[in-house]
Amino acid sequence: MNAKQLAAEAAVALIKDGMKVGLGTGSTAYFAIQKIGQRVQEEGLKVTCIATSIQSEELAQSLKIPMVGFEQLERLDITIDGADEADHHLQLIKGGGGALLREKIIAYITDHYVTIVDESKYVETLGKFYLPVEIVPFGWQRTFDHIKTLGGAPHLRQRDNAPYITDNGNYILDCDFKTIPDPESLQTKLNLIPGVVECGLFVNKTQTLIIGYNDGSIKTH
Ligand code: A5P
Repeated sequence: MNAKQLAAEAAVALIKDGMKVGLGTGSTAYFAIQKIGQRVQEEGLKVTCIATSIQSEELAQSLKIPMVGFEQLERLDITIDGADEADHHLQLIKGGGGALLREKIIAYITDHYVTIVDESKYVETLGKFYLPVEIVPFGWQRTFDHIKTLGGAPHLRQRDNAPYITDNGNYILDCDFKTIPDPESLQTKLNLIPGVVECGLFVNKTQTLIIGYNDGSIKTH
């Protein structure tokens, strides 16, 4: 089992019958969704789930995991999601897979937010990974300029020689801030810029961080 799968499976062990569960996005969350599907099919685990991306929703449906919409739930008992970086205060950078807005909406209605990473993502200070910022396409060049004044070097995310489009029809700027010693303050500044929909800083959201190591061990913070 690789380090991502180890962390993912340890997190899925926290799910109990009857829980409402948020499903993350990305290659680590993939293992969690697979394991939930296995528990649903083999143990008859009773859960209702909501996904943070179209990709994860389709995966969950293929595994026959019961899915619901927001009209059917106000809170989630637990969400299990990956991250691009996690620091020692459990602050995160997310959005490498482009799902940061839906991931954040779901994080904010979750009672127990569990982040799963492999050891390569556990860092002293955030910022080596370029911070994804979701922006509206209208006037995006000017939003780009505003972010630059905060000290980040933005890069418009591309796919197949065209701007990458999120599940919500927006663009993403991947911003090189070098180091982010105060994620809360940067999050506030970014989210005040007109045109910014949401940034990939997840501040004070993670209650449990599970790190998978290449030697087969896991650590929980
Ligand atoms: C998706 O937008 C992201 O926030 C992912 O949760 C994050 O990029 C981690 O993905 P991996 O588990 O694939 O590294």
